[in-house]
Amino acid sequence: MKKPSMTPWSVSGDIDYNKLTKEFGAVLLDSSDADNSDLHHLIRRGFYYSHRDFNAWLNAAKSGKKVSILTGRGSSEKMHLGHLIPFVLSKAFQEKLNCPVYIPISDDEKFLVKPKLSLEEAQKFADDNILDIIALGFKPGKTFIFKDTSYPIYPLAIKTAKLISYSTAKAVFGLKPETNIGWTFYPAVQAAHILFPQFKSGKHHTLVPIGIDQDPYMRIARDIAQHSSLGFQKPATIHSKFLPGLRGSSKMSSSDEGQDVIYLSDSPSEVKNKINKYAFSGGKDTLEEHRKHGGNPDIDMSFQYLKYFFEEDDKKLAKIESDYRSGKMTTGELKKYAIDKINAFLKKHQENKKRAKSSLGKFMLKN
Ligand code: TRP
Repeated sequence: MKKPSMTPWSVSGDIDYNKLTKEFGAVLLDSSDADNSDLHHLIRRGFYYSHRDFNAWLNAAKSGKKVSILTGRGSSEKMHLGHLIPFVLSKAFQEKLNCPVYIPISDDEKFLVKPKLSLEEAQKFADDNILDIIALGFKPGKTFIFKDTSYPIYPLAIKTAKLISYSTAKAVFGLKPETNIGWTFYPAVQAAHILFPQFKSGKHHTLVPIGIDQDPYMRIARDIAQHSSLGFQKPATIHSKFLPGLRGSSKMSSSDEGQDVIYLSDSPSEVKNKINKYAFSGGKDTLEEHRKHGGNPDIDMSFQYLKYFFEEDDKKLAKIESDYRSGKMTTGELKKYAIDKINAFLKKHQENKKRAKSSLGKFMLKN
């Protein structure tokens, strides 16, 4: 086991998800609960696994009360599959429950926390990432995107900042004496994001789908939401695990020269090469052994990507799982299936992204 380490800005080592939920004082999500499991395969299959007040939000949504969804993106690079997780869920919920989705892009955050990233680069990545997000099929008129460095978030951020003490920020985020002061202020900005739908349209239930590493911001936002100067409802959250890297690391990330990532801009041959070369396999060393003993889908990355992303059909997934476990399906066959699925998704995504440019005006929030 590699020693785990997790902050909102970096994740490494083997993560014990259940332990985190406990430590953070959140609640494990009951994926066998029909209300939850019918909503999305990411919930049914345990990828979204923890929450705060999710069922209260869901009940409000189902009973026709005003609800919203908010999730954001820190634009430090071009996007890969792992970055899509909260947006995939938000888009599916928007379709099912017909609710507005708010999407702040924290180019300011990434400029402040990444020593080598210039502000201009963070802003450029923001513009590019926004097209990737729109390409997922969010509804125009019901989806509101803004960049921190071009939207007037400051008047809201000072309202949250006034309610967050320095010692709270220091304890929650592990700020160090040498941390630059922009970075120490940023938590007030993300708290303003989380409460943004209520700033805009009054007190109501908001759901914030996030990776579990972002939970410290939720705790702060929930702590201040009901303060008399705001008068809001505590926002709900639903936490995901991280999408593992190609070689089986706990989180897909762009370090190691891209041997762990599939970018949304990858070509069919890049995907094919990466899966064939790097995707950790649960298969046996020889075909003979594989046929005899079978493979292990639980540690096989091609299978994991099918499970969490690309094979939405439960029956097909179950058949692949049992065929691979029994040795009837080979690693080569499993990889080919995954490559074809990923490439079909990316082809459509890349076409949608080209089209997204012309509809940008329908999504960007005006002051
Ligand atoms: N900090 C998040 C990240 O690095 C991005 C983000 C900005 C965000 N504002 C948000 C996420 C609000 C959830 C809610 O990925």
